[in-house]
Amino acid sequence: MTTQDFKGMQTPFYYYDLTLLRNTLQAIKDATADAPNFHVHYAVKACATPMVLREIAQAGLGADCVSGGEILRAAEQGFPVSEIVYAGVGKSDWEIEAALDKDIAMFNVESMEELEVINEIASTKCKIARVAFRINPNVDAHTHAKITTGLNENKFGIAMEDMLPAIHRAQTLSNIEFLGLHFHIGSQITETTPFRALCERINELTAALKADGISVRNINVGGGYGVDYQHPDENPIPDFKAYFDTFKQHLQLDADQHLHFELGRAIVAQCGSLITKVLYVKQGHSKQFVIVDAGMTDLIRPALYDAFHFAQNLTAEEEGRAEHCNYDIVGPICESSDVFHKDYQLPITHRGDLIAFRTAGAYGEIMASQYNCRPMPKHICSK
Ligand code: LLP
Repeated sequence: MTTQDFKGMQTPFYYYDLTLLRNTLQAIKDATADAPNFHVHYAVKACATPMVLREIAQAGLGADCVSGGEILRAAEQGFPVSEIVYAGVGKSDWEIEAALDKDIAMFNVESMEELEVINEIASTKCKIARVAFRINPNVDAHTHAKITTGLNENKFGIAMEDMLPAIHRAQTLSNIEFLGLHFHIGSQITETTPFRALCERINELTAALKADGISVRNINVGGGYGVDYQHPDENPIPDFKAYFDTFKQHLQLDADQHLHFELGRAIVAQCGSLITKVLYVKQGHSKQFVIVDAGMTDLIRPALYDAFHFAQNLTAEEEGRAEHCNYDIVGPICESSDVFHKDYQLPITHRGDLIAFRTAGAYGEIMASQYNCRPMPKHICSK
């Protein structure tokens, strides 16, 4: 990534390194090559940029969607509908209809109320809806409170105690086929221990169901594997072997059971950077501000989750500026939370320099907004 690659581009924009994306996808293939019953779905919510989706679809991954819009986008960009799963705590009728019309692989059902509605809509279409129940496993993922999902206090999924009645009800509904269980404990989980705890919880649940004569054909363990935001160049590809080995070692699967994954961030985060231009270097009373032309409208993660995105002054690096200074790096939005970094060390920075916020491929462009009537950020991709 050099400033030459970006000549003539209007900032701010997202840059996606498709070579890194391909290498990441290859690492996933290598780590799952000996496990033919493992199926990896890409969580479209992380980044739905068409070129990125096409690369992932071409690599043979399925898609994990959370809205009708994502189902349509994934199908458009080449994901086979038979490999699309659909989760979401509030599915609208039109979204359920779209999913049934497309004949997607499976609904991940999050409540008894939703199960009844899906059955009703499927019966008007004379279709059978394949479902898995999203179970809230009450496993602590030890991640940021705003992105934890697997605890009892969260709105997601069906409580473990309600699982058996839900399955029994599904078995009585004529337009529902019960296929499995779905779990997701949270996001940006960098240790394998929470996934091991999830495996143990699933083993208990499936053993109890087996004793009741219920077989669970599909188990979906969601996504959540994290990336190294601090060191994007040292760790561009997550340790997928450690991640998948955790499930190989700790999850008890029968020969005919399938294990599904829904990884988002781990696949795309390191491939994307937000490129922005320095508008002003402003001398405040006690601080120096680097004011850039990207704001929380383009990358909301720092404002929303206190997230860290490594900042790199590309122009200063190319010019070999040796001296450094501490700056607050801020955007132009009329909100005091529009801050990317406080007291952050950069090479001496000037108006016109290009800065890259790294590891922004996941939950970056897709979460952009038009607040302040700003145009949506554009994107470019490497070859
Ligand atoms: N499956 C389900 C059911 C999910 O809810 C999520 C993410 C995923 C899979 C993919 O998780 P991943 O592998 O990307 O961690 N906007 C936040 C992250 C929200 C994650 C929501 N659910 C952020 O910027 O950190």
